[in-house]
Order: sequence, then C-alpha cells, then structure tokens
Amino acid sequence: MRVIIEKDALSVARIAARVVAQLVRARPQCVLGLATGSTPVATYQELIRMNREEGLSFARVTTFNLDEYVGLAPNHPQSYRAFMQRELFDHIDIPHEHTHVPDGRALDLEGSCERYEALIQQLGGIDLQVLGIGSDGHIAFNEPGSSLGSRTRLKSLTGETVRDNARFFGTEADVPKLAITMGVGTILESRKCLLLATGESKSRAIRDTIEGPITAQVTASALQLHRDVVVVLDEAAASRLDRRSYYAEVEQAQRAIEAGNSPS
Ligand code: GLP
Repeated sequence: MRVIIEKDALSVARIAARVVAQLVRARPQCVLGLATGSTPVATYQELIRMNREEGLSFARVTTFNLDEYVGLAPNHPQSYRAFMQRELFDHIDIPHEHTHVPDGRALDLEGSCERYEALIQQLGGIDLQVLGIGSDGHIAFNEPGSSLGSRTRLKSLTGETVRDNARFFGTEADVPKLAITMGVGTILESRKCLLLATGESKSRAIRDTIEGPITAQVTASALQLHRDVVVVLDEAAASRLDRRSYYAEVEQAQRAIEAGNSPS
C-alpha cells in the first residue's frame, strides 16, 4: 500500500484528483469505479474544476458506482444516483449512458446485481476504484462479516452505518436498511484502488485497515491483498497509525524517484 498523509482534507482531494486525472489523460476510455459519501466530494469538485479549466475530458470515460440504497428512486435526493448527478456527473462532459449506479428499485434485485457484475466485465473491468471508508471499516456497503470474496449483492446495513448516514436523511428511521453493493471480491478485481479518509472519526478504521490483520470484520483490510492501492489521508485520519513516520519517509523517496532524483 502506498500511504500518503496530507495536512488537510483539501490536499487529500488535490492528490486524489491528480491520481484520477492522470489515468483519464493516459487512457481517455478508462473505466472508473466511484464512491459516494462526504469524503470524495472535494475530489469531485477538483475534477470538475479540471474539466472546466484544464481540458480534462470525461467524454469517453465509463463509471460504475459502488452501491445504492434499495427502495430509493434515482431521483430521490438521497439516492446515490442523485448524489452522483449533483456532485459530479451534471458538471462534467460525461455522457449519461456511460454512468452506472446499481438500480435500487429493480424488480429482480438479485438478477440486477448479476447484470451489474457482467457489465463491469463486459466493459473490461474497473481501472481505478475510488473508495471511502465507513467508521466500522467497511468499503462500499460491505459491512463487518461480509465475505472477502463477495460479489455485487444485497446487504443489510448495520446500526452504526444507519446512524452515520442519518445526517443525510434527517432521521435514522428514513435511512433504508438494505443496499445493493459491489462485493469485496469485485473491488479487489479493480486494477488500482484509491482509498480516501479524512477526519478523526476515521482514524480507528484506518489503523485497522492498514496495520491490523486482514479480517472480514474490517472489510477494508482486504485491500492489503491488492497489489496496487493508494491510501490518501489527512493527519486526523492518520493519527492512530503506528508507522506514520515510516510512511512519510517512503513517500518522500517515492516522490524523489518520480521526479527523476535518486532518494538520499
Ligand atoms: C457509506 C458508503 C461508503 C462510504 C461511507 C463513508 O457507507 N456506502 O461508500 O465510504 O458511507 O461515508 P463518508 O465519506 O460520508 O464518511
């Protein structure tokens, strides 16, 4: 894992947007996996700015979102489809038909999960998967106990996740208790993963993900098995990591190599 620790959430967003933009410039027809939640919003704002001001085009990009609440129509303000339209898609040059979010209102929910997986495969797999993290260490909606080999499926949300997400809905009672989510196995098949976390409330989950054992109780810890993961954190989210100073040294050396200098 490449662990990058930045001073604040804004710098996290700049670094994350740079990783996405590098791929889009190198491979304009790439497939991006996208996440919802408050964490990636600043990254999406930076990508919107790059689209407007720096000619970063998404015209040939395809996207797949990680998850969606069951029962919410795409135009429900708290649906993840509506979130993505509002926070990113409506502001960049991506054709609507290139953007995919699981259908939380499909009549045949299980069949629609299988079709979502098949479509990802058909379009060549995900090149870069953007991820946030739940306070219990979940990625997408892969709650503690999810199989680390899981595929896109229905998942019941834990009380902690419902409470965390109630801030978007007003009350806990309004938060759907069921979601469609890509599985941990689906996520691990992405060619590259970009995990973002900001704020003290994520520090325990981040410590468990990076320095804890690989366990289905912290589904993000499965990323330790992936060969190409970049984790971008602010200082608060990184505050419980034991090896903080080592990651900073490695990062310094890595940047020197990338700049064409040999690390001292
Ligand atoms: C939800 C989403 C996750 C997201 C998490 C954290 O559970 N399904 O994809 O990572 O929330 O959200 P936030 O960034 O708002 O803390």
